[in-house]
Amino acid sequence: MALDRSNIPNDLSAFWMPFTANRQFKKSPRMLVSADGMFYKTADGRDILDGTAGLWCCNAGHNRPKIVEAIRKQAGELDYAPAFQMGHPVAFELASRLRDMAPDPFEHVFFTNSGSESVETALKIALAYQRAIGQGSRTRLIGRERGYHGVNFGGISVGGIVNNRKFFGSLLTGVDHLPHTHLADNAYSKGQPEHGAHLADDLERIVALHGPETIAAVIVEPMAGSTGVLLPPKGYLERLREITRKHGILLIFDEVITGFGRLGSSFAAEHFGVMPDLITCAKGLTNGVIPMGAVLATKEIHDAFMQGPEHMIELFHGYTYSGSPIASAAGIATLETYKEEGLFERAAELAPYWQEALHSLKGLPHVMDIRNMGLIGAVELEPIAGDPAKRAFSAFLDAYDKGILIRTTGDIIAMSPPLIIEKTHIDQLIGTLSDVLKKLH
Ligand SMILES: Cc1ncc(COP(=O)(O)O)c(C=O)c1O
Repeated sequence: MALDRSNIPNDLSAFWMPFTANRQFKKSPRMLVSADGMFYKTADGRDILDGTAGLWCCNAGHNRPKIVEAIRKQAGELDYAPAFQMGHPVAFELASRLRDMAPDPFEHVFFTNSGSESVETALKIALAYQRAIGQGSRTRLIGRERGYHGVNFGGISVGGIVNNRKFFGSLLTGVDHLPHTHLADNAYSKGQPEHGAHLADDLERIVALHGPETIAAVIVEPMAGSTGVLLPPKGYLERLREITRKHGILLIFDEVITGFGRLGSSFAAEHFGVMPDLITCAKGLTNGVIPMGAVLATKEIHDAFMQGPEHMIELFHGYTYSGSPIASAAGIATLETYKEEGLFERAAELAPYWQEALHSLKGLPHVMDIRNMGLIGAVELEPIAGDPAKRAFSAFLDAYDKGILIRTTGDIIAMSPPLIIEKTHIDQLIGTLSDVLKKLH
């Protein structure tokens, strides 16, 4: 289709786009100019069904009146207030609501502006907590292969994606990695795979290698999203919890994707019935509308810091925009929208329909695996020999031409639609993807 450039700026050169093939994009821009409900509108006036909730973040869909109004109102009332040594009511209100929504042990909330910052914050809290309780020799952090924890130095150090690491020097020291949980035996699993709980036992090997008294925390995504939807095998997270507890190691769940209904519950911790010590979140906290993240901490962790003279700062950490008024207002309106519309329950109800629709793609050309959980799904394609990621990228481009937004990492197609999705949208999304895959070279 010929591209109508009338709604596209003349000069695309200044903006160095993140995680984007800049040269390819600027030759053939995919420009979104508005959004409503389940759909984006492109610069050339086409509707694109949002199969990815933006970037895993617009869980309540787009242009939600309550959120838009809350932002408008807050901007006119209190636009900004200093975040250090001063407060404003909106941030306190959001923190209380988040605490009430989170599983029981999480009583305290530290605000950030993104998933990456939530990760850095959680790692720093873990290290400082160990020191505060007299375990200052615990300085090591353990992540996992194929983990994604954002793009800052702590996050890429504990993360396990080679291209996110290898260009950026020697990263943090004292970091080790668990093996990832993606086993070929589990291909075409529906929901949690059967095989692989034993992969958590590798933590015992790491503990024996370094000594438990040197390890502060283990960080994992309960379900790894960005690296291609890698699901935790049955029993894996429970085992990880058992081993970390046994050795006095904190367990951090990075729930930047799994938080806010993606798996049909508030957080994956609740979904799996495994409670970590810290939870990171972002994205769905404000429905993706205003940058905001948070770290949820247990009372035990929080209280360990509340010592010393009262006039002293307890944690030397924070951001200019931690709990900013407009983001907090957007957060409150978002949590209300989730609740009023029962969106987490809705995700749980739709999950079986989503699963069957997704698995109907089995047998199409180049499809090697399909996996799903909650309202997340992935279709893994066989890579073109010598040209990794090209096949999936072609599928992404063709899908966009045909009116659906999907995401790809390597040769894996990932989808995570807004939780307001209707069955007819699922049919459209999967039907269009099926047409794309049938013609894929
Ligand atoms: C598990 C996880 N952690 C951290 C991040 C980073 O979030 P942000 O891009 O908001 O910094 C992401 C983003 O996708 C994520 O999926």
